[in-house]
Amino acid sequence: MTPDQLSEQVLDRFAGTPDPRLRALLAALISHLHAFAVQTALTSQEWLAAVEFLTATGHKCDAQRQEFILLSDVLGLSSLVDLVNAEEGGTEPTVLGPFYLPGAPERRMGEQIGRPEDGQPALARGRVTDTSGRPLAAARLDIWQASANGLYDIQDPGQPPFNLRGVFVTGPDGCFEFRTVRPASYPIPTDGPVGDLLRAARCDHWRAAHIHAIVSAPGHAAVTTHIFDAENQYLDTDAVFGVRDSLIRPFRPAGPADPADVKFVVEMDFALVTARAPA
Ligand code: BEZ
Ligand code: FE
Repeated sequence: MTPDQLSEQVLDRFAGTPDPRLRALLAALISHLHAFAVQTALTSQEWLAAVEFLTATGHKCDAQRQEFILLSDVLGLSSLVDLVNAEEGGTEPTVLGPFYLPGAPERRMGEQIGRPEDGQPALARGRVTDTSGRPLAAARLDIWQASANGLYDIQDPGQPPFNLRGVFVTGPDGCFEFRTVRPASYPIPTDGPVGDLLRAARCDHWRAAHIHAIVSAPGHAAVTTHIFDAENQYLDTDAVFGVRDSLIRPFRPAGPADPADVKFVVEMDFALVTARAPA
């Protein structure tokens, strides 16, 4: 039997899958996996090493840690799925990451979400609009970020629950503002198989400094995105390929017209695409 004949046999066996989408996904997966093995002349030892790597990746997962998503992130697959599914015309999406927590407290507009020890105080402000620039009322901005030590509250027993997290809801003008700290770069977790992979490939394990946001509004598709610090040194080498030019903003030094308690101001507007009618 030739490799091509074997691939045909396997494709034929799965061709009767009743669900059409699953049928298409399986056919493409089998074709690409087989092509990969043929193209690389994959050896039995390499195949076994890959199985052991994936097994170790599974063993590293628990309720707090998702090593498979981290693997998807560093291989650029998470970002690719975002790009393939991006809605035209709205704010660009980027990776959710493993540190989102649902249920962050709703906060007063302008409220500080961090503590003095989390970094230099910064004001973030802007407007949520539709794609033609009309302000969106009742838009929710679910915000989270890491502290200056590079850790999120859920990784760091020294931070109170929901530190550097908060939900802000816009009024009729679509405007928002919140106080936080200027974000710091931080390393993604490298104490598991993904770390071994990055070391073997001599890849960077730092994320470019960012603030996370999930922005949603009635009648509009929610966007999961970031605000990146324009002065950060890891913008070109972000470990999870999350940087988009349209999401990079200067954190400018606060001036006399800005509130006296902040050191930096960052401005970022978010545009949401109208929700699609259910199919
Ligand atoms: C994050 O930005 O929180 C993140 C994203 C992907 C992998 C690790 C961390
Ligand atoms: Fe992050």
